[in-house]
Order: sequence, then C-alpha cells, then structure tokens
Amino acid sequence: MLQLSNYQFFDLAPVLRTMREEVLEGLLAPQKTLSPKYFYDERGSRLFDEITHLPEYYPTRTETALFETHSAEIAQHFSGDVTLIEYGSGSSRKIRALLEAMRPAAYVPLDISGEHLEASAKTLQADYDWLDIYAVCADYSQEIKLPEAIPLNQPMAFFPGSSIGNFTPEGAQAFLVRARALMGDQGKLLIGIDRKKDKAVLELAYNDAAGVTAAFNLNVLTHLNRELDGNFELDGFAHRAIYNEQVGSIQMFLQSLKPQQVTLAGEQIEFAVGEQIHTENSFKYDPEQFAELAAKSGWAQELHLTDAQDYFSVFLLSAA
Ligand code: AVJ
Repeated sequence: MLQLSNYQFFDLAPVLRTMREEVLEGLLAPQKTLSPKYFYDERGSRLFDEITHLPEYYPTRTETALFETHSAEIAQHFSGDVTLIEYGSGSSRKIRALLEAMRPAAYVPLDISGEHLEASAKTLQADYDWLDIYAVCADYSQEIKLPEAIPLNQPMAFFPGSSIGNFTPEGAQAFLVRARALMGDQGKLLIGIDRKKDKAVLELAYNDAAGVTAAFNLNVLTHLNRELDGNFELDGFAHRAIYNEQVGSIQMFLQSLKPQQVTLAGEQIEFAVGEQIHTENSFKYDPEQFAELAAKSGWAQELHLTDAQDYFSVFLLSAA
C-alpha cells in the first residue's frame, strides 16, 4: 500500500489465474464470450475515453449535462460528511461537478484498471487538496469488501455512464442488491441509465465513423495476447455491433474473417469463418423498467432526471 498525506491506494484486484480461467472458459464454450471488463487495459481505458467524445456517442455528454444542470439539486439530498464511492471511476472526470457541488469528506474511486486508477486519482488529488481519496483497484462484478479505513457513515455510490448495462437485467439486479448491502441503511445510489430508443441512433453510437469503437473492441485481443501469451491476429477479426430489440441490448461481437486457430494460455482455440466472440452487452432500459428493478433490489427512488430527447436517465436512489 502506497500512502501519501490524504491519498491511499488499495489493490483488491483479482489474481491472474482467475483471468486465465475465466477467459478460457468463455472462449472454449460453444458461443464464445469475453467479459467486457477485459477491454480496460491502459490502451482500452484511453480508447474508451475517446469514445465518450465521439459525435455519435451521446450517452456521456447527455449524462454530464444532467449532472451539471442538477448538481445543486442532487446536493440538497445530502448533509454532513458524505463518502462518494464511484464504481468504475475510469478517468474520474464526471465526478468533478459533483465534488464541487457536494463537497464530500471522502472520495473512493473503484476501478479494475490499477494504473489508470492511480494516475487519475493523483490528478484529482492535485486539484482537490481538501478531499480524502481512497483509490481501490477492484472488480465490481464480484462481491467486494471495502478496507476498514474508509469512512462509511453517509455513503453515496455513484455508477454513471449506464455501465450497469453491461450486466443482464438479472445481473443488474444482483449488482443493485450488492451495492445496497455495501452502502448500508444510510446509503444512496446515483446511477445513470441509457434509455431504449430508435435502433438507428443506438447502432450509430456503437459503429462510429472514425472506427474508435472498432479499435476498442479489437483491443481486447491485444490485451489477451499480452496477458495470456496469445497469438490473436487483429486483422483476422471484425467489429460488429447490433441492437437486439427483443432483449433491449446492444450486442458487440468480434467476428472471425476466416477459419483460424489461435493459441492462448497454452490452449488451442478454433474459429470457423464468420464465428463470433460476444464481447459486450449494453442493456437499455425504460425508466419504469429500471425503477421496478431498483425497487426489487431494496432501493427507493428520490429523483429521476432526464434530457429533452429522453435519451438518458439519472436516478438518485436511497436505501429502502
Ligand atoms: C462503459 C459499458 C457504458 O455500453 O456504452 C461504449 C461501453 N462499448 N462503446 C457502453 C462501450 C462500446 C459503454 N459502457
């Protein structure tokens, strides 16, 4: 543990063996799958940052505008020493408007990408010297325990960006239940939800003209090659993203452009031409549908904010 004046870093990252097992299990299954958490190595985190600035990718700018417009209103729901816990903090950019409006006592960025987390937390620390920062490298798709040193009297979880969309609705409910338990009876949750909308708008957001989303998707293979001694050839695969209206999810795939055999972590993986690896789900919700999911998970609705186009929703929930 590295400790500065009011900055601490905790590494609760899963061991590499878990990655090997999980990745091989996914790639040796009849429908090949990879968890989207493997997108986020250093380059993947940077490519995702680039995605958030793309003209086609409306979620980030829509949500940021909601936080900026309503930060005072959100802050009114709190008093005293708040601890802000951000799930998947990435570059810790969205949190700034809230930090300034809420002036919490502590900020706990949680992220799976340790190096990116540290760099971002230190940048933030330089700008907000009044803020205690406890950076925690962890995988929130699993159950986590926060280090004892972190004060949790009045915790507010922050889960922006519709990252909850990576879970299936059942997985989302399980996440909401875990967050409810971790935050406790005084806990609140500020969460961003991408809404169901026109298929063309959704598909453009995941098939940008500049090809950044394609590079982001393909980068997972570079990450696997490096971490698990693999020999994926990136030009042997193509990016695909479609909106499955039936289930309400953007589904991303890497499609094999030829029959091929790949070696990864000492195992052989066979690909038929056209065979796909399912790399990401991004579920979209109607506000009523999400409110119901939250209620079933022990959360009561305090606020619902949305934009003029009904593209994106922000909910403030409190422990029920
Ligand atoms: C970070 C999961 C919210 O689903 O829109 C963006 C990830 N993937 N473009 C999303 C993503 C491709 C993003 N989340």
